[in-house]
Amino acid sequence: MSRSGRDPDRRVKTARGRKVSSTRWLERQLNDPYVQKARAEGYRSRAAYKLIELDERFALLNGVRRVVDLGIAPGGWAQVVRKKAPKAEVVGIDLLPVEPIDGVTIFEMDFMADDAPAALAQALGGPPDLVLSDMAANTVGHKQTDHLRTMALVEAGAWFAVETLDKGGAFVAKVLAGGTDAELLGLLKQHFKTVKHAKPPASRKGSSEWYVVAQGFKGRG
Ligand SMILES: C[S@@+](CC[C@H](N)C(=O)[O-])C[C@H]1O[C@@H](n2cnc3c(N)ncnc32)[C@H](O)[C@@H]1O
Repeated sequence: MSRSGRDPDRRVKTARGRKVSSTRWLERQLNDPYVQKARAEGYRSRAAYKLIELDERFALLNGVRRVVDLGIAPGGWAQVVRKKAPKAEVVGIDLLPVEPIDGVTIFEMDFMADDAPAALAQALGGPPDLVLSDMAANTVGHKQTDHLRTMALVEAGAWFAVETLDKGGAFVAKVLAGGTDAELLGLLKQHFKTVKHAKPPASRKGSSEWYVVAQGFKGRG
């Protein structure tokens, strides 16, 4: 308690006891046209529109038969894939539980676990033609640590793509501003015909997220 008799912590809370930061988050959510659109169109996340917009630009979902969704929760991207390619086999993985999605096999496990890549590949029953990664590491607020953690996820996703993709396939991953580092970019350029970076309009302007889009997998060997 302060001398004025007010608990200092209270001053940063709203009448309902929310902290100012979460009230701002709530305001942003309520005023965000993508959040409203997602609710109206039945998508589980506003993130769904990032994939819709990436697909409009890169035609990622045209004729896909097998798709891997890394960091699938809550399932917006998988819903988009099912809508655009209803016959595609979709396999997803997340640390968090995900409500079932018709036609999608979901693993609740860490993609960085040794047995995760094999589990995904086996469930798919054939080489994927699209590997998506919207995985984001929990941030700790230390810029370099956050960058390293996120890039480790992207790198693991890229290696998984290179080791499993069908010829002609594509890999899409969330990266941080500044894009992929030189080593990863080299790996992608070696294995894919085109490698581009994009920030879809649904990606919040203030956020540092971008997407790397690698298309035309050259095949192994
Ligand atoms: C931005 S969300 C994905 C949103 C999703 N694309 C959608 O449209 O609903 C990122 C997800 O990555 C997951 N994630 C982060 N690290 C992971 C890991 N090592 N293995 C599996 N999932 C992970 C998080 O749990 C989180 O649910």
